[in-house]
Amino acid sequence: MYILGLSFGRKNGNTDILVKEALYGAREAASDAEIKFINTNRLKIGRCIGCGACSTSLEKGGDNDCVIKDDFQMLEDEVRKADCLVVGAPVYVLQPVGQYKDFVDRFSCRHDVSAINWVLDKRRRGEAPGDPDAFPQERLKRRTVSYISVGGATTQNWVSMGTATMHLFGFPPMMKVVGNYDAHNMGTTGNPYLDENLINNMHEMGKRTVEAYSMDDKDIKWFDAQGQGTCPVCHQNLLMVNGTTTVECPICGIEGKISIDGEKLNVTFSEEQQARARGTFAGLREHTVEIQGFGAICGPKIQANKEFLERQMDRVKNFDKYINE
Ligand SMILES: Cc1cc2nc3c(=O)[nH]c(=O)nc-3n(C[C@H](O)[C@H](O)[C@H](O)COP(=O)(O)O)c2cc1C
Repeated sequence: MYILGLSFGRKNGNTDILVKEALYGAREAASDAEIKFINTNRLKIGRCIGCGACSTSLEKGGDNDCVIKDDFQMLEDEVRKADCLVVGAPVYVLQPVGQYKDFVDRFSCRHDVSAINWVLDKRRRGEAPGDPDAFPQERLKRRTVSYISVGGATTQNWVSMGTATMHLFGFPPMMKVVGNYDAHNMGTTGNPYLDENLINNMHEMGKRTVEAYSMDDKDIKWFDAQGQGTCPVCHQNLLMVNGTTTVECPICGIEGKISIDGEKLNVTFSEEQQARARGTFAGLREHTVEIQGFGAICGPKIQANKEFLERQMDRVKNFDKYINE
C-alpha cells in the first residue's frame, strides 16, 4: 500500500503539521505501507491553459497526458501511485490556495473515469483509433482520500468554501472520500500542537482513510468529528437556491427538497438523486453525454451562421482597432 500526504501550505506550517499528524494516524492502520509526504509550496505548477491537447490525444488513440512540462508531472505520478491520500490546503480568500486549484484543474478532469471509459469503449467497438488495453488502467484504480482545510479565521465565516472546494480534486477520478476537516482558528490557536483535540482528530481521520481502503463503500462511515453536514454525499453545507423548495448541492450537483419546521430547516436528498451525484459513475456519465452532444448541436448552428460569426469574431481578434475607431 502506498499512502501519500500532500500539503499546499508553507513548509513546516500549519497544514504540514496537520497532514503529517494524519499520516502518523495512517501508519497505525498500515504498519507495512510506504508513506510519503510532499509539500508543494515551492513547486512550479502552471495553470491549465485549456489547449485540449490531452483530450485530442486520447481521441486519436494516444494517452491523455498534459503537454505542459513542469513540476506537475511529478505530483501527478505520486497521486496516480497512491492508494490512500490525505490532502491539506490553507485557505486563501475563502477557498483553498490557488496552487491547489491549478493542480485540480490539471489533474482531475483528465482522470474523469467516465470520460476516459467513453473513449476506451469507442476503441473497443472499433469506432476510435488506438488499443483499448494500452491505456494504463491503474490510473483509474480505487483510492481513498481525506481533506484538511486550514484557515486563520476564528470562525467558519472566513473559510466558507474551504472544505467544499477541496472535494473537487477527487470526484472525477471517483476517489472515495472518508472525511474532511475544517481546521480554521489557526490565528488564535498559535500552533496546531496546542489543540489536542485537533491533533487527535487528524490521527483518527488518517487512520480511517487507510482502513476504508479495504472496506466496501457501503460500510464506510463518514468521519463525522465536525458533524454529518447537509448533503449526505459530500457532507458539505453549501446549497444553491432558486426561489422554490428545490435546492441543489453545488458540489454533487444533486437536488434536495427543503422544508421548515419551526426554527429548523430540513433538507432531504432522495436515494435516486444521491445515486447521480457528480462523484458517481452515473453522475460523471451525465456530463460526458452532455459534452459529447455539444458538437451535434452547435456544429450546424455555426455552419449556418458562418459569415456572421466571421464578422463578429473579427471584432474580437482586432479589438484594439475597433474600440478606438
Ligand atoms: C493571501 C492569504 C489569504 C488568506 N486568506 C484567508 C481567509 O480568507 N480565511 C482564513 O481563515 N485564513 C486566511 N489566510 C490565513 C491562512 O489560511 C492561515 O494562516 C493558514 O494557517 C496558513 O497555512 P500554512 O501555515 O500551512 O501555510 C490567508 C493567508 C494568506 C497568506
